[in-house]
Amino acid sequence: MTTRKHGIELLRNPGLNKSTAFTPEEREKLDLTGLVPNVTESEDVQLQRVLMQLDNKATDLDQYIYMAGLLDHDETLFYRTVMSDPARFLPIIYAPTIGEACQKYGHILRHPRGMYLSMEHKGHIAEVLRNWPEKDVRVICVTDGGRILGLGDLGANGMPIPIGKLQLYTAAAGVPPQHLLPMYLDAGTDNEELLDDPLYLGMRRKRPKAEELYAFVDEFMEAVQEVFPNCCVHFEDWTGVDAVNLLERYRDKYCAYNDDIQGTAGTTLAAMMSAAYMKGTQLSDEKYLFLGAGSAGIGLADLLCAALTQEGMSPEEARSHIYMFDINGLLESSRTDLFDFQQPYAHDHEPTKDFTDAIESIKPTTIIGVSTVGGAFDQDVIETMSRINERPVILALSNPTEHAECTAEQAYRWSKGQAIFAAGVQFDPVEYDGKTYRPSQANNCYIFPAVGMAIVATQAKRVTDEMFIEAARGVAGQIKPEHHEEGLLYPPQSDILETEIRTAVRVAKLVFDSGLARVERPDDIEAFIRGHVYEPQYPDLA
Ligand code: NAI
Repeated sequence: MTTRKHGIELLRNPGLNKSTAFTPEEREKLDLTGLVPNVTESEDVQLQRVLMQLDNKATDLDQYIYMAGLLDHDETLFYRTVMSDPARFLPIIYAPTIGEACQKYGHILRHPRGMYLSMEHKGHIAEVLRNWPEKDVRVICVTDGGRILGLGDLGANGMPIPIGKLQLYTAAAGVPPQHLLPMYLDAGTDNEELLDDPLYLGMRRKRPKAEELYAFVDEFMEAVQEVFPNCCVHFEDWTGVDAVNLLERYRDKYCAYNDDIQGTAGTTLAAMMSAAYMKGTQLSDEKYLFLGAGSAGIGLADLLCAALTQEGMSPEEARSHIYMFDINGLLESSRTDLFDFQQPYAHDHEPTKDFTDAIESIKPTTIIGVSTVGGAFDQDVIETMSRINERPVILALSNPTEHAECTAEQAYRWSKGQAIFAAGVQFDPVEYDGKTYRPSQANNCYIFPAVGMAIVATQAKRVTDEMFIEAARGVAGQIKPEHHEEGLLYPPQSDILETEIRTAVRVAKLVFDSGLARVERPDDIEAFIRGHVYEPQYPDLA
């Protein structure tokens, strides 16, 4: 690689800076002599120093801040560090640490990253987008800070979410960082504490009505087509209603998707497929009972239905395998309080407000907790599931931890080690009756980075639900028998890059098969995807 940058300008460019790894020839040629120590360290030695400094940080947030600083001056070393041990570093650069980083963002900010587009820029958004230095942007991850994790409206403090999410595209699936643009759309905030905080980084006004917000997002989407024509827009952490409305508004018009809806459903679907493999069954042999029929529950039920129809069922038959239970009891045909989107899952059944009774009568093989009610899967629920099923599948997905419908320890103990379990949060391994069980975490980083890599490489025109089903199959299909032995429903995070690359290959194949690619179909799709994978290695600048 050659660069016109030299001297201090080069050192200040995190994409080119090699810190202490410049060779004598590079130092000489690029006017760096005297500006960096007179050594040429290997990347391994650099990594050793970073790890040592991280070990001295007192808290995870301190590690997050240190990593953000590292990225500001040496991008290669940042990704080398994260990719050296994803199981350790993904929770530092993203959830759970990022929650605290968002809450304190206005206070911990060192160096702005990504773009901040405000409603005040309305009318000339395309012009503002042109200020971004990279011209070939392939994914924008955008939030308005409306519902950050489980923390509510954080306005501009939500910016670490798109920043972190895009880092996962690179760290987990090898998407080259120069194609990725984190974006905050500033439509104000209703969070009084932030509005009163002198260090708050967003517009000091309340949120507008939906029409005004959507008009702003419409202009943004149009401007993206104009300035970055090969770009996919990934929506993240908007309020539930806006998330659903904006997805419907754009999914058939642009290359756009919502990870909270589609990625999350794909991630849980992977756990369901994996549990079926573990039991030696098919999805179509299973019966599902959801606790919670909100946005997460319905999104997942719809994707599950689509996956069941791909296994040969009619939509009606697929729906008959899915029951739902909400705060007012079982969804059944006599209920008059249901939303339209809940109706398909209201079957003919006696009304009941008792979840255990519903289990006794429906006899589900899998229960899925998306209710936000901590402890809702009590001993009675787990024991009933264990009596009805040899291997009950228990997915306690609500988070944070205090909202989980049961803990891993409870699921294994109350089922006498028979449960196949995953949660929305990471629980520690559990010892029961002389055996160690490793609970799985339904973590979105198993799905969206692979889908993103496939979209980036194929320059897909649209993002479809089928891509998420294919990704779920790709992930579930990579679990080895020894992982199942330990109870794992996802491949270990330590192998995430290879898992995601293989998954991206499957999704890319689907993109080509569906005629949605904007590049020519290569003979070897795996080699094509691998050819796009970013490696955290310094270029030779001499
Ligand atoms: P929501 O508020 O839209 O829906 C909650 C649902 O639970 C509603 O149907 C409500 O009627 C029901 N519910 C509330 N109290 C209940 C009770 N006592 N008994 C029975 N049902 C009750 O929430 P949303 O967005 O659907 O999320 C639900 C939870 O799932 C959240 O905690 C979220 O963090 C979690 N989640 C976790 C995922 C993961 O692990 N990857 C993925 C998606 C969601």
